[in-house]
Amino acid sequence: MMSAMVKLNHHYQKLQPNYLFTEVEKKTETLLSREPGAKLLHLGVGDISMPLPPAVVEELVQASLEMGDPKKFRGYGPSQGYLFLREKVAKHDYENLSVSPDEIFISDGANTDLANLQEIFAPDVRVALPDPAYPVYLDTTIMAGRTRLPLKTGGYGGVVYLPCLEENGFQPLPPPTHADLIYLCSPHNPTGVAMTRPLLEQWVDYAKRHRSILILDAAYEAYINDPEIPHSIYEIEGAKEVAIEVKSFSKNAGFTGLRCSYTVIPHQLRVADTGSIFSLNTLWKRRQDAKTNGVSYPVQRAAAAVYTEAGQAQVKGLVTGYLERAKVLGDGLRALRFAVFGGVNAPYLWMGVPERFNSWSFFDYLLEKAHLVTLPGSGFGKTGEGYMRLTSFGTKEAIAQALERLKAL
Ligand code: MLT
Repeated sequence: MMSAMVKLNHHYQKLQPNYLFTEVEKKTETLLSREPGAKLLHLGVGDISMPLPPAVVEELVQASLEMGDPKKFRGYGPSQGYLFLREKVAKHDYENLSVSPDEIFISDGANTDLANLQEIFAPDVRVALPDPAYPVYLDTTIMAGRTRLPLKTGGYGGVVYLPCLEENGFQPLPPPTHADLIYLCSPHNPTGVAMTRPLLEQWVDYAKRHRSILILDAAYEAYINDPEIPHSIYEIEGAKEVAIEVKSFSKNAGFTGLRCSYTVIPHQLRVADTGSIFSLNTLWKRRQDAKTNGVSYPVQRAAAAVYTEAGQAQVKGLVTGYLERAKVLGDGLRALRFAVFGGVNAPYLWMGVPERFNSWSFFDYLLEKAHLVTLPGSGFGKTGEGYMRLTSFGTKEAIAQALERLKAL
């Protein structure tokens, strides 16, 4: 067979062969092909198990009907997102924080922006990320050529890792070294632990001293219960000069299948380069204008419905429901003598693995013996070794049965 001879992006060769969630899916499919009758319990990937709130569905239907109405249909929308949605986000999610609609960019998913934001920076910027972390930060850093080869000791050369350990309360601390672009996630995926206000203050201070940029993934913000934990990095003084914040409708309003998120790039966020000062908001707008026609009109209308009185009440119901499941799961696991963290301000629980296993062998054991799908901590980074991530996005039944099956093991 003939092969084309085109130079590839060779950085892709440094990636692990499978994306973490794909690897888990493959193992699950293999089990099912061996045991077709197996009743799997899914507490792995953080996909929702409750349907979209009725207020969202209603608006989705109405807006879709408009698209077939000669007087009301819409063609291309603004690449930055419709003003009706950006205004609602600014008013409700950033009340008293003076974020304006033109600092908000609507997108089809937090992971899209978390990955793509890297492209407005030079290839040699140094990236820092928590370890363990949502795999998108590292994978896209590798794809962009911002790492060296994988190290024998785990991890990749050229990346600054921020270890989230039991000893530091799973809080990613500013490192003694320099990093240009820092991914943070609060509440954190996968540990389920939210960043405290003093830590966010330390990070803003670090970014100012190092003239770095923070990218805060706040996809799980709706799960914050603790009144001491900030809901936005912009609650920290000076953060608008150093931080981008990325949020999603997936985990609060169940948009994993619908796709809608937003990114905030404040006007104060400026970068000095080659003797000039650049606005990141302007650069990102330029990028979006060239590369996207935005999110579909019905989906943005559906997202706007999240901010209606009914929408707010229904979303609160979903979040409370998942947090209740997190409590049931956490209490049940503790009763079985597992060490469990997170699950209070987040839909994820971070569970210690029994001594005779590592993360992947325990994953395999749970899959084979209990037909329970989880996520191995080491899939999120080498510091995740020895832990598993379980999600409370699973159904109540799956959580109850998972605890029963674990007890029976
Ligand atoms: C997860 O399981 O970590 C999330 O569902 C992944 C995502 O939001 O893309």
